[in-house]
Amino acid sequence: MMKETVLVSGGAGYIGTHTAVALIEAGYDVVIIDNFSNSEPAAVEGVEKIVGRKVCLEEVDTCDKEALRGVFERHQFNTVIHFAAYKAVGESMSEPLKYYQNNLVSYMNILEMMKEYGRPNVLFSSSATVYGDAEQLPVTEQTPRQPATSPYGNTKQIAEDILHDCCRAYEGMRGIALRYFNPIGAHQSALIGELPRGVPNNLVPFITQTAAGIRECLSVFGSDYDTPDGTCLRDYIDVNDLAKAHVAAVARMTSGKMEQRYEIFNVGTGNPVSVLDLITRFEKANGLKLNYKMVERRAGDVPAVWADTTLANEVLGWKAERDLDDTLRSSWEWEKRVRNIS
Ligand code: UFG
Repeated sequence: MMKETVLVSGGAGYIGTHTAVALIEAGYDVVIIDNFSNSEPAAVEGVEKIVGRKVCLEEVDTCDKEALRGVFERHQFNTVIHFAAYKAVGESMSEPLKYYQNNLVSYMNILEMMKEYGRPNVLFSSSATVYGDAEQLPVTEQTPRQPATSPYGNTKQIAEDILHDCCRAYEGMRGIALRYFNPIGAHQSALIGELPRGVPNNLVPFITQTAAGIRECLSVFGSDYDTPDGTCLRDYIDVNDLAKAHVAAVARMTSGKMEQRYEIFNVGTGNPVSVLDLITRFEKANGLKLNYKMVERRAGDVPAVWADTTLANEVLGWKAERDLDDTLRSSWEWEKRVRNIS
């Protein structure tokens, strides 16, 4: 049987590389598109080392519609997973146009090409950010979205709505939005992982860079929240588990089993973990001590958000499996490899 091919935009990025590996291991072919605006060609080489073969790479900016058309001309596939986007919440506040321009234009180009070339399946990377400061926890897919508090978050909401509209209007189109909680960890080979440029915004890269001596001290943003230990609660999902959720969603789309043409799934573990807990677990799992201090709250952070994952468990037949301590070990193994620490 011919292998199904999946187009993976942003496939050289953090979640994209892990998903490419999971797809190939599940028997799919992938075509990666990336313009390396926030990633390195070495990431694709990491994928190739893990799977033991060459991976098709198209160095194309998805904002360039004619270049993107070339990809559709050259490759036959029924499914796209669209990861390519900017993702720094703070930067989106100071440079909103950069975010709306890049994240929405690239997405619309993908959708237009899918429609024009009659390619049916669109899997979109959404985020728990759409729930904002939710009234009920854990959040289900039915929990109302809150008005976005950043242009980044707004692009996620708008993109969900666009996909919903397209699936309603264009009979041949099917869409799934996966709402990721907090992806962390790296591949167990340490050949791929998260490599933020500059000062990390996210907690785990800041932790590993502090452990590596690149950052002097980790700031814990807020210790007076109405939570058990005063620090924020999040749902940290292993990136390899997250990658497998994409494989399950692709299988659902390609099998023709979707009950509605547009579906949404939370992708998390269902377990809330505080910032302090995460720090302590990281220290214990890796046998080291972190230099950290409590500071003021960070603007825009919600006190707590974690997933009800029933829908993904039952409908996608997927659930998070990896142990948090193993995940935190993989983050440190990856950081050590990148920094040449033995
Ligand atoms: N935190 C710290 N110190 C740091 C970095 C983070 O204490 O140096 C805390 C934050 O205050 C928060 C938790 O660690 O309580 C997690 O923060 P991250 O920045 O790692 O993740 P967020 O939950 O803020 O962000 C994630 C995704 C975004 C998404 C957002 C929605 O990374 O893409 O959820 O809330 F928009």
